[in-house]
Amino acid sequence: FKTLDTLDAAGRKILLRADLNVPVRDGHITDLTRIERLAPTIRELADKGGRVIVVSHFDRPKGKRVPEMSLAPIAAALGKTLGRPVAFADDCIGPVAEAAVAALKDGDVLVLENTRFHAGEEKNDPELSKALAALADDYVNDAFSAAHRAHASTEGVARFLPSFAGRLMEAELNALAIALENPVHPVGAIVGGAKISTKLDLIGNLLDKVDVLIVGGAMANTFLAAKGINVGKSLQEADMHDTARAIMARAAERGCEIVLPVDAVTATEFRADPPTRTVPVDAIPADSMVLDAGPETVRLLTQKVIGLKTLVWNGPLGAFELHPFDTATNELAAEVARRTQAGQLTSVAGGGDTVSALRHAGVADQMSYTSTAGGAFLEWLEGKTLPGIQALSELSERILPL
Ligand code: 3PG
Repeated sequence: FKTLDTLDAAGRKILLRADLNVPVRDGHITDLTRIERLAPTIRELADKGGRVIVVSHFDRPKGKRVPEMSLAPIAAALGKTLGRPVAFADDCIGPVAEAAVAALKDGDVLVLENTRFHAGEEKNDPELSKALAALADDYVNDAFSAAHRAHASTEGVARFLPSFAGRLMEAELNALAIALENPVHPVGAIVGGAKISTKLDLIGNLLDKVDVLIVGGAMANTFLAAKGINVGKSLQEADMHDTARAIMARAAERGCEIVLPVDAVTATEFRADPPTRTVPVDAIPADSMVLDAGPETVRLLTQKVIGLKTLVWNGPLGAFELHPFDTATNELAAEVARRTQAGQLTSVAGGGDTVSALRHAGVADQMSYTSTAGGAFLEWLEGKTLPGIQALSELSERILPL
């Protein structure tokens, strides 16, 4: 795909697909990361004299105009981050959008209303793609985190305009390539989370790519139970034991080492600061549940990490939202950060809760790369082709007439 290096932005109208789907609570944006990471692309295009037309979805309004899901407040936050004026049009196509685009001068930035207010967005309706394309001369996709959706503004529109990857998209793809496509071995992955059933494809793909697979979170309980260990009242998937055993057998065939916890911090109640017992995994009390990996496990995982050159991290080791069950995640994260900062390890983290867990540990900005993506990062780890990225590399070679 082409990057901004080959886009002569001066005087051009540029449709920039961003991911402004930021977390909002009680009307306030709780995390500006996606906005901050998008800013360099906008600055570069505007500074080169481009007329930047930002489009994005926000939340899931399902084709209806839902006032609470307007991008207007997020456009204001973008303006603050950029330190320059950002105009807003309250539709992404039609006369309102066309008038707002017509009013743009070189270097101006405009945000259009939530693309998902139109049902055609999620249906990847060519009429919506064409209407969006008609607003601009070029298309830049900087929304890696929405690239797993084949929607009108992420995929369809690339058929109708010369298309380019933005700087954030470029950075995300480079980081993932360094981590898994062409990594320096030994390569490890930490995969945490509640359920094996939601990460089967991901584990299957990683078994072929990594030398060490560290399994954490409640998912590890299912692996332990599949090995005949009594995990007490822990969260686990009883119907996935055969699958877990098959995964372990396949890993052994492929020379991928699966590392499971050797001890656990347990409690009888799922709340902050309950009485806890730290036990070897073969001595989990029948009335208790595993809520974090124990100190022996942290020591073991630290040794494993020391042996790695490349690490992909997806998912926390314990119930990190509740103190003290953030301990194992925090301690391992600190070690990964230390080795990364010392130039001994390339670390790439993303997907789901991972970035909040690393932020909670205070080290999210000390990884080699922290992805802005949730679902898209997971699908990439599953080895899937992401439609938004495929569109950039393939469709833009043969541009269709509007
Ligand atoms: C995300 O936050 O993962 C992306 O913005 C995609 O959002 P979606 O899951 O609603 O498609």
